[in-house]
Amino acid sequence: MKAAVKIFALAMALSVGTSNLAWTNEGHEEIALSLSTLLRSARAVISNKQKHINNPDIGDKGLSADVVVGIAKENYEKATGINIDSIDPNSLHGQLVAAELQAVRDVMDDAQSTINEEGVGLKGFLPAIFARLVTENFRDAAGGKATIKLTAPKNYVRNRANRPDKWEHNVIETMFRSPDHETGQHFAEVTDVKGKEAYRLILPEYYKESCLACHGGPKGERDITGGKKEGGTLGELGGAISVVIFE
Ligand code: HEC
Repeated sequence: MKAAVKIFALAMALSVGTSNLAWTNEGHEEIALSLSTLLRSARAVISNKQKHINNPDIGDKGLSADVVVGIAKENYEKATGINIDSIDPNSLHGQLVAAELQAVRDVMDDAQSTINEEGVGLKGFLPAIFARLVTENFRDAAGGKATIKLTAPKNYVRNRANRPDKWEHNVIETMFRSPDHETGQHFAEVTDVKGKEAYRLILPEYYKESCLACHGGPKGERDITGGKKEGGTLGELGGAISVVIFE
């Protein structure tokens, strides 16, 4: 395991450190982390409002696109110290952040009839589903310049659409699951993606107490959504945000 990690670290040093200065000079790490933080900031809104969303006695939940984007921007500023509106809209960073905010808007516009339905409790508008919809919308909004994906260790994936690709799987298994891995530390590399050179960054996420109602034990038991629990434990690696930037 240790040797594999070392080889990975070496590969990273070679690919990011020397052969491809253009990629690193353009602040791709900053952009990829920023897009990840924005996804988390928006997902946290849906997470914190989950009880409210699933309340059958209320119709209009007051969670319009404007409201969710507003709170997501506040969460982003709390996490980074940066006002997202201050990012130059003409820069690649500004364009991608705008595309992601647009994706959040589109998802919330589409979700209104679902989340505002009176008389229905659980609506299936979960944080992870919201995140997947945002990343799907982002693909178009970003015009092929970047992609974001919420994935997980292969044996923990619920939705096949979220399965890790080879690169993600490799990083998750050889680095993130290694006992030597520093909790929360991301990995980045310039590498080939479908025949194109691209900057890739992947950020680990861990199960919190609130996740275990669905992703915890006993393994195989049904959770409230009807899905099978993974048997995950507190603090265990449960997922990863994976960003690809193509320019
Ligand atoms: C109410 C049940 C529930 C809770 C609570 C929950 N999840 Fe999930 N999670 C799901 C379902 C259902 C999916 C499949 C979503 C989809 O269709 O894309 C999922 C998907 C995911 C995925 C995407 C990969 C995959 O398996 O498809 C990750 C990562 C994830 N959850 C992590 C978490 C974390 C971390 C928490 C706690 C902060 C959490 N979940 C809380 C039910 C839940």
